[in-house]
Amino acid sequence: MNDSTSAPGRPAADDSLTQPFAGASPYDTYVRASVLNTLQHPLTEAPDEMGFVVTTQVMELWLTLIVHEWRTASTAFAKDDLDAAMDALTRSRRALSALNAAWAPLASLTPAQFNGFRAAFGQASGFQSAMYRHMEFLLGDKSASMLRMHRGDTAVHEALSETYREPSLYDEVLGFLHRQGLPVPDEVRERDVTDPYRSDPGVVEVWRRIYSGPQHHPLLALGELLTDVAELVLRWRYDHVMVVRRAMGAKSGSAGSTGLAWLEQRATRPVFPELWEARGGV
Ligand code: HEM
Repeated sequence: MNDSTSAPGRPAADDSLTQPFAGASPYDTYVRASVLNTLQHPLTEAPDEMGFVVTTQVMELWLTLIVHEWRTASTAFAKDDLDAAMDALTRSRRALSALNAAWAPLASLTPAQFNGFRAAFGQASGFQSAMYRHMEFLLGDKSASMLRMHRGDTAVHEALSETYREPSLYDEVLGFLHRQGLPVPDEVRERDVTDPYRSDPGVVEVWRRIYSGPQHHPLLALGELLTDVAELVLRWRYDHVMVVRRAMGAKSGSAGSTGLAWLEQRATRPVFPELWEARGGV
C-alpha cells in the first residue's frame, strides 16, 4: 500500500503535504529542531540521566521566555503602557506555570537513581545558570558576587552585567506607580539599582493604598498579577528544595554549597516583598 492509499478508517495522506523540500523543512528552518535535538549528551548509561538533561534544558528555555517577557514588561512600564506590560506579565505567568510543571520527570528521583550519573557531571550545578541570574536580577535580587563566576565567559558575563546595571522589572513598576501619582519615596526611586532591592515602608503604604481602593482598579489587577508571578517563583524554589531533599538528602551540592540547608535559606528570599507586607494592613 503506498502513502496515498487510505487504510480503512484512516484519512488518506495528502500528497501535496508530503512533497520533498529542497533542503531543510520550513519547520526546521524556523524552529531549529534538528539543532535543538542534537544538544542532549548524557555522560553515562544511567537510565535517568536523559530525563535530567532534558528537564534542565526545558527549564532553561522557559527561563529564556520568562526573562524575555519581563524585559518586554519593563520597557512597557517605562513608557507608561500598562496594557502592554500586563499582557507580557500574563504571558510570563503562563510560562512560569509551565516551568514549574517541568519538575515532574525529576520529582521522585531516588538517591540511587541520582547517584547513577551524579559523579559524571562533576561541579556542574544549576547555581551556574546565567539565565536564572537574569531572572533574579530582573526581580530586583541583584548580586555582584553572582556575576563573578561568569567572568571567563565574555558574552555571558557582558549580557548578565547589563541586566545587573539596568533597573529591575520592579524598579520600572515603582517608577510607573510614581508617575501615576502614587507617593513612591524619592530614596527608593533614586536608589542604586545594582543594590539588592529591600522592602521599604513607603512602598508598603503605596500597595496598601491600592489594595484598600476599588476592587476592580487596574493598579490592583497589576498588584495581583505581580503577586501571582512572585508566588510562582517561590513555588519553583520550594519544588526544587523538595526534589533535592528526595534525590540527595542533606549531602553537599555539586557547586560546593551545603546543599539542602543552603537552598532552604535561599528559597525564603523575598520576591516583591511589599506586595506581601501590604496585605496585613488592608
Ligand atoms: C535532581 C535534581 C536536582 C538536584 C539534586 C539539584 C541540586 C541543587 C543543589 C544542591 C544546589 C545548591 C548549589 C550547589 O551547591 O550545587 C542547586 C542550586 C540550583 N539549582 Fe538545582 N538541582 C536539581 C535540579 C535542578 C534543575 C532541573 C534546575 C533547572 C535549571 C536547577 C537549577 C538550580 C538553580 C538555579 C540553583 C541556584 C539556586 C539559587 O541560587 O538560589 N536545579 N541545585
